[in-house]
Amino acid sequence: MKNAKYLGSELLSFAAAKLPDERNGTKARAAPSRRAGRTLPTRYIDLFERAPVGYLTVDRRGRIGLFNPGAARLFGMDGASIAGRLLGKLVSAESRSRIATFLAQLFGERRRLICKIEVPSKEGQPETAELVGTVSEDGNECYIVATNISARRRNTKEMKRSQAELRKLSARLVAVREEERTALARELHDGLGQMLTALTLDIAWLQRRIERFVDPEKRKESLARARELRKNIDEAIAIVRRTSSELRPASLELMGLWPALEGEAARFASRSGVKCVVRPFAQAARLQNPGLSVALFRIVQEALTNIARHAKASLVEIACEESAAGCKLTIVDDGRGISEVESSDPNSLGLIGMRERARSFGGEFSIAGAPDSGSRVTVLIPAKALRGTP
Ligand SMILES: Nc1ncnc2c1ncn2[C@@H]1O[C@H](COP(=O)(O)OP(=O)(O)OP(=O)(O)O)[C@@H](O)[C@H]1O
Ligand SMILES: [Mg+2]
Repeated sequence: MKNAKYLGSELLSFAAAKLPDERNGTKARAAPSRRAGRTLPTRYIDLFERAPVGYLTVDRRGRIGLFNPGAARLFGMDGASIAGRLLGKLVSAESRSRIATFLAQLFGERRRLICKIEVPSKEGQPETAELVGTVSEDGNECYIVATNISARRRNTKEMKRSQAELRKLSARLVAVREEERTALARELHDGLGQMLTALTLDIAWLQRRIERFVDPEKRKESLARARELRKNIDEAIAIVRRTSSELRPASLELMGLWPALEGEAARFASRSGVKCVVRPFAQAARLQNPGLSVALFRIVQEALTNIARHAKASLVEIACEESAAGCKLTIVDDGRGISEVESSDPNSLGLIGMRERARSFGGEFSIAGAPDSGSRVTVLIPAKALRGTP
């Protein structure tokens, strides 16, 4: 490979030709240019040498003049000189005629042209390169920028693949969490709940026995203790019910989304003091997809938590409409209104969670607000997802 300095003034003219603004600079700009001129060669040589793309000049006969390491690398000649070589000889046999046409058109039409060719690669599989050519002012040579687009395509493909994988993983994690919640809710409700109910029966038996105590002092004291015990067990039963219902509302499975949302809205209103209305909606068979009902329910739960924490609202309205296109869930509040910065913040995990839940059913999620006019969460689920299994 020729030393960068070897390219000298020739390289400068190449770079200058690529930078019409500097080349056509007015007199007013001449002074700063002259000053910059002292450092210009090194600056351009550095750019030229280190560029991740290939730069080369080609004359009318197709011979390469100047080139940078990126160009040699692209044509599989890493570290070697390609100066004086015919460009057509460095590409695959199939691309040779394309190069000939490209150069003929470039010199003939003298306008910027693009051409895709195949170049050899170390792995044996030819790679695709994109050549962007322009012709010098005197029309004797052309400047070509050559980019390996196979790598770009591979990277894009790889990025899409890993995005799809992450999406699958996140959907799986959400599903596993739901399964665990359901199992825990059942265990709490059926296991602990039933055991506590059995204890209340035992206490009732004990109370009947205590009533028969002869000593009034002892009877009074024991009855008071038994009542206290009963009260504590009742409280424990209420906690078990509430926790199990929070983990997975039984109404969601038994009666569907609407009654479950009504229950959630009532709980939210009593906790936060914010009025919450769920517009009645027909629970068509299509919304009986249990996985989807759970996803929509969780989205509403997160939206309500956000309203309680951030919105300073006094009214929330939840609606779910079905149409031939699918279903549309909206949660509207009259609070301070989410800002664009907040809604597009990549660290908003609550919002990301809602979006991912909608996406796992091929749906869309959005949240928008206006200052002091509230916020609106919209979830659109396509019709084909309404019947599917979770
Ligand atoms: N209804 C709303 N009204 C006003 N601001 C909101 C509303 N919903 C969300 N926000 C804003 O958007 C931000 C992001 O919400 P997100 O749910 O992602 O995070 P968070 O609630 O702050 O934390 P968490 O991860 O616990 O959910 C919130 O911090 C809040 O500033
Ligand atoms: Mg949140």
